[in-house]
Amino acid sequence: MRLAPSILTADFARLGEQVATACAAGIDWIHLDVMDGRFVPNISFGPLVVRALRPLADQYGALLDAHLMIVEPERYLADFAAAGADLITVHAEATPHVHRAVQMIHDLGKKAGVAINPATPLSMVEELIDQVELILLMTVNPGFGGQTLIPSVLTKVQRLRTLLGDRPVEIMVDGGVNPTTIAACATAGATVAVVGSAVFGPQPIPDAINELRIALGEAVPGK
Ligand code: DX5
Ligand code: ZN
Repeated sequence: MRLAPSILTADFARLGEQVATACAAGIDWIHLDVMDGRFVPNISFGPLVVRALRPLADQYGALLDAHLMIVEPERYLADFAAAGADLITVHAEATPHVHRAVQMIHDLGKKAGVAINPATPLSMVEELIDQVELILLMTVNPGFGGQTLIPSVLTKVQRLRTLLGDRPVEIMVDGGVNPTTIAACATAGATVAVVGSAVFGPQPIPDAINELRIALGEAVPGK
């Protein structure tokens, strides 16, 4: 299971240092939650932060994954691509033209992802499973870190796993993933787990990452 720390709950006064610490602890995927105050009831950051983290990502060989929780994302795809995002994910609920948005992301030379909220049926992304590199299933209602995972979404993960067959499409779960819930996400078929407050919380970052690996059976306690 690939871990993708979300910087939303990081200490922004020490963002570079915290991301470097996570990368030094073996993380190679950084999740960037972009919120516009309209698609979700919160405002976070824009391309400026993506651009600021690009040199660090290059230094550690990490992928910058931009999760766009914004309406009409087509308006900003070129800005996030120019800022250095490697993967750009748009919400199927945020535009009537999600197929065109995916085409635009590919035309910009980037990987494309499509995301759906907990109550949105899988049928909303079914027509895109041969077009995208990633499908993000929100395991919380988007807008904030530190929420509790909605268990019913795990059956959606299982159904998506079956639907995809052996297509090379990543299944990302996002929201409420922590040492208690991550193993169930992996069992359901997720291949990438966004981890926000589980990594950028009270514990030292390397310890928090190791605890997630232990919960996945990928690390031995005390090592
Ligand atoms: C919520 C975001 C998530 C969030 C995850 O809308 O998309 O990425 O930051 O944070 P945790 O892991 O704390 O739930
Ligand atoms: Zn996210």
